[in-house]
Amino acid sequence: MGEVILTMKDIDKSFPGVHALDHVNFEVKRGEVHALMGENGAGKSTLMKVLTGIYQKDSGSITYKGQETEFHNTKEAQDAGVVIVHQELNMVGDLTVAQNIFIGREPKKGFTIDDKKMVEDSKKLFKELNIEINPKEKMNNLTVGKQQMCEIAKAISHKAEVIIFDEPSAALTEKEIADLFEIIRDLRKKGLGIVYISHRMDEIKTITDRVTVMRDGGYVGTLITADSTKEDIINMMVGRVIYEDPKEHSMVAPDAPVVLKVENLNAGKMVQNVSFELRKGEILGFSGLMGAGRTETARALFGADPKQSGKISIMGKDGKLHEVTINTPQDAVKYGIGYLSEDRRRYGCVVQKSVTENTTLATMEEFTSGIFINKSKEKEVSERYVKELATKTPNCEQLVVNLSGGNQQKVVIAKWLTRDSEILIFDEPTRGIDVGAKNEIYKLMNRLAAEGKSIIMISSEMTEVLRMSDRIIVMCEGKITGNIDISEATQEHIMNKATRNID
Ligand SMILES: Nc1ncnc2c1ncn2[C@@H]1O[C@H](COP(=O)(O)OP(=O)(O)OP(=O)(O)O)[C@@H](O)[C@H]1O
Ligand SMILES: [Mg+2]
Repeated sequence: MGEVILTMKDIDKSFPGVHALDHVNFEVKRGEVHALMGENGAGKSTLMKVLTGIYQKDSGSITYKGQETEFHNTKEAQDAGVVIVHQELNMVGDLTVAQNIFIGREPKKGFTIDDKKMVEDSKKLFKELNIEINPKEKMNNLTVGKQQMCEIAKAISHKAEVIIFDEPSAALTEKEIADLFEIIRDLRKKGLGIVYISHRMDEIKTITDRVTVMRDGGYVGTLITADSTKEDIINMMVGRVIYEDPKEHSMVAPDAPVVLKVENLNAGKMVQNVSFELRKGEILGFSGLMGAGRTETARALFGADPKQSGKISIMGKDGKLHEVTINTPQDAVKYGIGYLSEDRRRYGCVVQKSVTENTTLATMEEFTSGIFINKSKEKEVSERYVKELATKTPNCEQLVVNLSGGNQQKVVIAKWLTRDSEILIFDEPTRGIDVGAKNEIYKLMNRLAAEGKSIIMISSEMTEVLRMSDRIIVMCEGKITGNIDISEATQEHIMNKATRNID
């Protein structure tokens, strides 16, 4: 670690009804990776937005390279070498990768944009970073992870001296995270100051040198990562002991009826002859490496992607299985299936609408009598879920775009819960969710299962799969490679199935 490159002192910032930053101190040195931690809504993103000129502070001071500084917009910050990779993706889907990276500063040839140079420069950049992406590809065609890597490449291309990564890993695969860490180590060696925001403790331990913890908009303290334990950090974050309530396996009754039966489902390349059964009150974990075909299976089942073949049967009111045709998400919803997508920004919520509107979106018909929307019932329901999920928002009229990343996710979860779906597919339900809220979501899932709902939970976190599931389906390269009862499940057993395509 070198000299201090950036100091934020006594930073204060309020939004209507929210004191988002309360005299916060923060400092970054050259050649360090500095973690910023705190629960959802603690103020991490806001602090970094104040730094990079997206928001203006109400009071306090910022010193950058020895001089008191205030950036009025992101461009000013970028030009000075302070760049941010946002928690939410900011790319333009219809443009190519290269166009996105050089947007607003395109190389020119005479009066026209030099497309060839733009593509060449992007190629160089990706090569330097060891990333395989075609610069001519449309942004929309990339996976969320790849889009995130483009954001990172774009940030680095700005000749930055301070780079802020706001939850960069939430949508990345293991391999992409490993690549990102290589990039970060390299940047650190070159003397850049790096801010790293993440809810994943193991990442904090692996990549960061110091940790600053925030709580409720306030500064709690700064620790040397190597000298502190996970518990030290969590205690500072939550200021209370988190009560973990372990599940008693298996909760599902041995004679519970099958509510969903999938036979020989084929869809695209990533879903090959997938067959499984889901029983009433069961939490069925879907484990596997990224790209194993779990999300694709869920999307095909939900009617979000076309299927080539396969039979889907659902338990009807008569308690018997009936074959159904699901061609669209509307069909799926009609049959009582809810899907909490892993890509919540794209499919999960309408950010320009309020918390109430989003919560009741999937279920409008229940709140409408004739053409009148029952506003008071809507409000009552959304208020209940805000309370149950401890969603941090001043009130239910708040636009979702103004909530912190983790709290936006809670709104999407609430949306499906109000729909009263009998079968719920949770795709990476706790991604980007802080430790405390994670527990709330686990409790909620257990409660839903106990009430007789059936849950498919896709998760890349092994501890989550082992803690929550009654049974675990393992997928690898588009096929089911394991179907393991929780009493026999171990990490090794699952990993074995997840990496070898034989049973
Ligand atoms: N533009 C805005 N208008 C109103 N309130 C806002 C705005 N931006 C942020 N807030 C509020 O400020 C608080 C801090 O939010 P912030 O996004 O900084 O949290 P965070 O620590 O990044 O959380 P997460 O881990 O969920 O991303 C939250 O209560 C949030 O709702
Ligand atoms: Mg944030």
